[in-house]
Amino acid sequence: METIIKRVKKGQLDKDSIEMAGAILKKGGLVAFPTETVYGLGADALNEKAAEKIYAAKGRPSDNPLIVHITNLGALEKITKNVPEETKKIADAYWPGPLTMIFEKSEAVPYGTTGGLDTVAVRMPSDEVARALIDVGGGYIAAPSANTSGRPSPTMAEHVEEDLTGRIDMILDGGPVSIGLESTILDMTVTPPMILRPGAITKEMLEACIGEVTVDKAVIKPNQRPKAPGMKYRHYAPKADLSIVEGEMSKVISKINELAAEQVKAGHKVGIIGTKESVANYICGDVKSIGTREDESTIAVHLFAILREFDADQVDYIYSESFDTEGIGSAIMNRLLKAAGHHVITV
Ligand code: TXA
Ligand code: MG
Repeated sequence: METIIKRVKKGQLDKDSIEMAGAILKKGGLVAFPTETVYGLGADALNEKAAEKIYAAKGRPSDNPLIVHITNLGALEKITKNVPEETKKIADAYWPGPLTMIFEKSEAVPYGTTGGLDTVAVRMPSDEVARALIDVGGGYIAAPSANTSGRPSPTMAEHVEEDLTGRIDMILDGGPVSIGLESTILDMTVTPPMILRPGAITKEMLEACIGEVTVDKAVIKPNQRPKAPGMKYRHYAPKADLSIVEGEMSKVISKINELAAEQVKAGHKVGIIGTKESVANYICGDVKSIGTREDESTIAVHLFAILREFDADQVDYIYSESFDTEGIGSAIMNRLLKAAGHHVITV
């Protein structure tokens, strides 16, 4: 299959490209598009055959449900049942934005979209290209991250091309995303609501809005069965063996230098994930700055791209610093720990 790639500029959307993409979705095809979190791989969520194509293109296990993307609160009614009262408060505060909520599903949503579950995950993205596409595509677009299953989520159209060229109908290239980690997932079918995946909308932000919110234990600890089916797969995994080194900064730097030197001596290729504040202190290996500790959102936005760069460079070992778990830090550490298979060295 030939994959059409169209560049779309924010602020001056190319109507023809968006309409072409909408027509593909309406015919049951697959279109990758930018959102503020990561690129999504879209299909008509209410067309079971179309949604099923997503699983084939990504190589995704069929028990892993898809998120349905909408552009307005009114659209919830058709696809959900028994939506709890607090939903409106949360939606008023954080939709459109990097938050997904889970509700009981209505008959309108095929089981092919929800991985056989009676619940449906719904998100209202803020990205302008995403919103235009959802509207022309019929209003209900199922979209997982647009990566091959198991690879880091795509934060640029180039990442989607790498993984899915020839397997999908079209890619809308809207440039790099602004957040870089997938949406927070909040299960609204339980009381109090439970975070199944941390993201840019934090527990504190949700609690400020509706009071108590819990967090699925599997988010922090390894070996717990997560409630979001997709969280059980070894995700975001780079090809290299990734270890996180945590502790006091000067000790972390010495330890990473020591480990890197050992591996380089043994003839291996080593990658190091440091920050603007620390990179000058590393003495060997392929050293990359992920962002600045003064603003953790800069770290979030580069994490997946750096893992992909190390894959492309074919490094054998990656050593990463550890990050604070305040704010978006909990999402950063959740993804980094999964990428490392929870391999942490404490100094
Ligand atoms: O930011 C995002 O959420 C991106 C963009 C494209 O919107 N999408 C995304 O989709 O990350 P995906 O498929 O890569 O991750 C969806 C996660 C999976 O872990 C899946 O198991 C979980 O959401 N999920 C979906 N529906 C669910 C449901 N009904 N119950 C529990 N977990 C659900
Ligand atoms: Mg994903």
